[in-house]
Amino acid sequence: MEERDVAGRVALTLVLSREEIGQMVRRLALEVGRDYRGRRPVLVGVLKGAFVFLADLVRELDLDFEVDFVRLASYGSGTTSSGRVRVTAGLKTDVAGRDLLVVEDIIDTGYTTERLLRYLRARRPGSMKVCALLSKPARRKVKVPIDYLGAEVPDRFLVGYGLDYAQRHRGLPDIYALEEGRDGA
Ligand code: IMP
Ligand code: MG
Repeated sequence: MEERDVAGRVALTLVLSREEIGQMVRRLALEVGRDYRGRRPVLVGVLKGAFVFLADLVRELDLDFEVDFVRLASYGSGTTSSGRVRVTAGLKTDVAGRDLLVVEDIIDTGYTTERLLRYLRARRPGSMKVCALLSKPARRKVKVPIDYLGAEVPDRFLVGYGLDYAQRHRGLPDIYALEEGRDGA
C-alpha cells in the first residue's frame, strides 16, 4: 500500500497497520500490568514521539500509575541521531525509590535511551525498565536494555503513530516507511 503526502512528493509504504499496532499495545499493557501488579510505577514518556503510544498504552493498562515526561534532543541531521544527546526537559516528579518505566517510541542507535537511563539513574529510582514500541536492531550503536518490546523493524525511516519526519506525519494512525525522492521528487 502506498500513499502520497499532501505535497505529493513522498511515498509512504505501510509497515504496521493500526490493527497490528493495537495488538502490540494490548500485549505490552498485559505484560506491564502483570509485572507491576500492586505497585505504582512512574511511566516516563519520551517526548515528543512517544505521546501517541503512551496514550494508548495507559488506556489498556490495568494498573495504578503516575506519568511524567522528559524530552531529549540530539545534535544531528534529519533522520539520524548523533551520539551527543542532551535532556532538554527533565522530570518534575521526585523519582527517588520509585519504579520507573521508560516509554519510548522507537530505539534506533540507542544513544537517546542510553542518555536517558543515565539521567534517570542519577535520580536514584528503586527500579528502572524500558518499554519500546519499536526497535531497529540493525542500527544499534550502543547496547540498551529493552524489557518490553512491541516489534523489531527493519532499517527504514518510519512515520506515523507519533513518529515524525521533520515534525510531519505524527498523526497517521498506521506506521509507514518513508521513501524519499521517488518519481523525481
Ligand atoms: P536513537 O537515539 O538513535 O536510538 O533514536 C531515538 C529517537 O530518534 C527516537 O526516540 C525517535 O524520536 C527518533 N527516531 C529514530 N528512528 C526513527 C524513525 O524511523 N522515525 C522517526 N523517528 C525516529
Ligand atoms: Mg524521539
